[in-house]
Amino acid sequence: MTAAPITSICCIGAGYVGGPTMAVIADQCPDVRVTVVDINQTRIDAWNDDDLSKLPVYEPGLDAVVGRARGRNLFFSTAVDEAIAAADMVFISVNTPTKTKGLGAGQASDLRWVEACARQVAKSATGHTIVVEKSTLPVRTAEAVKAILFASEQSGDGVQRSFAMLSNPEFLAEGTAIPDLELPDRVLIGGENPEAIDALASLYGRWVPQERILRTNLWSSELSKLTANAFLAQRISSINSVGALCEVTGADVREVAKAIGTDSRIGPKFLQAGPGFGGSCFQKDILNLVYLCRHFGLPDVADYWESVVHLNSWQQHRIARTVVQKLFGTVTGKRLAVLGFAFKADTNDTREAPAIRIAKDLLEEGAQLAIHDPKVNADQIARDLQLPASTEPDVESGPKGAALSGEGTWWPSENIASALKGADAVIILTEWNHYRELDWTALAPLMRQPAWVFDARSVVTPADVQSAGLRLWRVGEGQP
Ligand code: NAD
Ligand code: UGA
Repeated sequence: MTAAPITSICCIGAGYVGGPTMAVIADQCPDVRVTVVDINQTRIDAWNDDDLSKLPVYEPGLDAVVGRARGRNLFFSTAVDEAIAAADMVFISVNTPTKTKGLGAGQASDLRWVEACARQVAKSATGHTIVVEKSTLPVRTAEAVKAILFASEQSGDGVQRSFAMLSNPEFLAEGTAIPDLELPDRVLIGGENPEAIDALASLYGRWVPQERILRTNLWSSELSKLTANAFLAQRISSINSVGALCEVTGADVREVAKAIGTDSRIGPKFLQAGPGFGGSCFQKDILNLVYLCRHFGLPDVADYWESVVHLNSWQQHRIARTVVQKLFGTVTGKRLAVLGFAFKADTNDTREAPAIRIAKDLLEEGAQLAIHDPKVNADQIARDLQLPASTEPDVESGPKGAALSGEGTWWPSENIASALKGADAVIILTEWNHYRELDWTALAPLMRQPAWVFDARSVVTPADVQSAGLRLWRVGEGQP
């Protein structure tokens, strides 16, 4: 029996995954009605904004995709129940952050939003509905979702409903979400019901080659997502650990990464040393894996994965410590320019950004930070640092107010030259392309000498910085 074609999709959650993923599905399948729903009215309003530069998620290419499909077969709405009722297929794409209290606090995923979705689907669905886990979830979450859904099949409220359950984790990376979705390495579909699997596979099959559509059981699919993120994060902690060793031995981590990455068994990707991984998922997903390992009686496996997260925090504190040490052991009252606040280039997302921990450490030391990022706004930075912005102090008359008493302060800097004015150091924390092309000869005279450039992302050309008379620290670079 062939699967009935999907004509109407609902996606619950209009975030960094739900928005771009559904926009691409709608773009590729113009005959399928795709409705993305969210409880956050502000977010939905932003998705519906006529000005495509105001979409709530910044992703290169997303505006064009949304521009083509929105209003044709792509809709953003807060009418959750109506969209579920009309759909043949419902994607659950809500947030699954780490629990902050209760059982498993600090490690387990908080599944309250997923459970709320399952209950809402159970209540509002009509006819046969394929429910797809798109959120990243602990292994065997589908069991709980299924239990809630299948209980409603017999609810006796007079509505005919039945369900099939699939896991279809998302592998897009922020900043490259559109190409990742348009040409994925693979699409993973886990499930028990062959017709439901076929229905989802034929949707993706409109633009993804069949050999890239992998089919597994539900639990392999859920676990593969956590494992993929754990492996990627592990490579970053590995290269950052080697970078620290390079710094004290005279080796250069870029050379080491190239030398090992040319081994086809290792490969060149994810070997970029930096300020540690950020983003909403790597840390959360590894901690979730750690929790599961402990739960299933595998404490040594749990310790192994937990060390990846420990090394990452250590790297972030180490960079802040290096700045303080190089600046004669104190940054109290000193102006420092922080270039980049997003967790990586080409996104406005700051969740778990390395800049947060590094800036907090420097503020704790009493620094005055001028923070520049082309896509992150000042309100977001204030929320992340849990500290309101100050007004920019006048370089000539020196610190005022809190800064005078040695407290750390920060202010948003619209342009790079004003961030550097009077600064003792520049700290580059996000690899925005723009930072690769800075004119150091013009910028150096604005700074207080002797001045430093701390390049945690390997974006500057060392000769340009040094010939401008600036001192340079680059992550993972030892002095030969
Ligand atoms: P997000 O926080 O950006 O978006 C989640 C959205 O869900 C929010 O807008 C929230 O208001 C909405 N929501 C929560 N409960 C709801 C409910 N009951 N009804 C309607 N809307 C509801 O999260 P995200 O970054 O899009 O991540 C979503 C999931 O995808 C997570 O499990 C994450 O681990 C996974 N993931 C994220 C990425 C990424 O790059 N961000 C990549 C792959 C997988
Ligand atoms: C990551 C994965 O790459 C995606 O496959 C996955 O879907 C997603 O997590 C998720 O589950 O949320 P993302 O976090 O958006 O995607 O971005 P990455 O490109 O993986 O970067 C994560 C962090 O690692 C960034 O802070 C980045 O700067 C850092 N990184 C990455 C390095 O420090 N070095 C590298 O070589 C690569």
